[in-house]
Amino acid sequence: MTAPALLSLKNITKLFGGIRALADVSFDVAPGQIVGVIGPNGAGKTSMFNVITGAYKADSGHVMLAGEDVTNQPPHRIARAGISRTFQNIRLFGGMTVWEHLLVSQPHSESLMRRVLPTRWADPTALQRAEEVLAFFGLEEMKDRNARSLPYGLQRRVEMARAVTARPKLLLLDEPVAGMNHDEAEDIRKLILRLRDDGLSVLLIEHDMAFVMNLCDYLHVVDFGAMIAHGRPEEVRADPVVLEAYLGRAA
Ligand SMILES: Nc1ncnc2c1ncn2[C@@H]1O[C@H](COP(=O)(O)OP(=O)(O)O)[C@@H](O)[C@H]1O
Ligand SMILES: [Mg+2]
Repeated sequence: MTAPALLSLKNITKLFGGIRALADVSFDVAPGQIVGVIGPNGAGKTSMFNVITGAYKADSGHVMLAGEDVTNQPPHRIARAGISRTFQNIRLFGGMTVWEHLLVSQPHSESLMRRVLPTRWADPTALQRAEEVLAFFGLEEMKDRNARSLPYGLQRRVEMARAVTARPKLLLLDEPVAGMNHDEAEDIRKLILRLRDDGLSVLLIEHDMAFVMNLCDYLHVVDFGAMIAHGRPEEVRADPVVLEAYLGRAA
C-alpha cells in the first residue's frame, strides 16, 4: 500500500480498571479499502470503534484521520472530520420516521436531534441528500414509517443509511449483518461494495466469517485487546494463530 492512510491507529491502549480492552493496537485503513476486524466476544472490537469515534478516551496512542490527529476529540468533531458509524445495538430514535433519521444523520443525542430536525426540514441540501440516500438503500417505501417499528434487518439498514447521509470519508459498521438471514446479509454486502465504488472507505466488525471473507480487502484479528493476525482474507483464514483463537478455546 503506497497511498497515504485514511485512518491510522498508532499504539492505541484503552484500560478499564485492570482490563486492557485495547493493548497497543496499530493499523491503517487506506482510501477505498474495506477492512474487517474480527475476533472473539470481548476482544475489544467495539472499544476500538469507541476510541476512534471519541466515545471513549484512549489512555495512550493516536488516531489519525487523513494525516490529522483526531485523538480524543469530542464525537461531534470526529464526525464532522469525516467518520460515521453504526452501533452493535441499534440506536434509532423513538417516534421518528425513517425520513427524519436520514435528515438529522448524526445520532449524538436524542434531544439534540429533536432540536436539529426543524432546521433540516427547511434545508434543501439536507432534503436532497436524504432523498438520494433513501433511494440508494431502497428505503423509499419505508420513508414515513416509524423507524423502530420496522423489522430488525430494515432497522439495521436505516442505521447504515443514516450514517451515510453525512457523506463520511470513513464508515464504521459494528456487526452490520448480526441477526440477518443470508439474503439480507447479501443485500448489505452489495450495498457496502457500491458505497466503496462511490469512494467511501469502510471499517467493519463482523462475526459472520463467510460475510467478511467475501467482502473485505484486508482483515485484522483481535484477541484480548491485542492484534494477533492480519492479512488478506485467504491468508487470515489459514493462519494457525487465528484458528487457535477461534477454535482452540472452544475445543
Ligand atoms: N464502558 C466500559 N466499561 C468497562 N468495561 C468495558 C467498557 N466497554 C468495554 N469494556 C470491556 O472491554 C472489553 C472489550 O469489550 P468490547 O470492546 O465490547 O469487545 P467486543 O466488541 O470485541 O466484543 C470487555 O472486557 C468489556 O467488558
Ligand atoms: Mg462488540
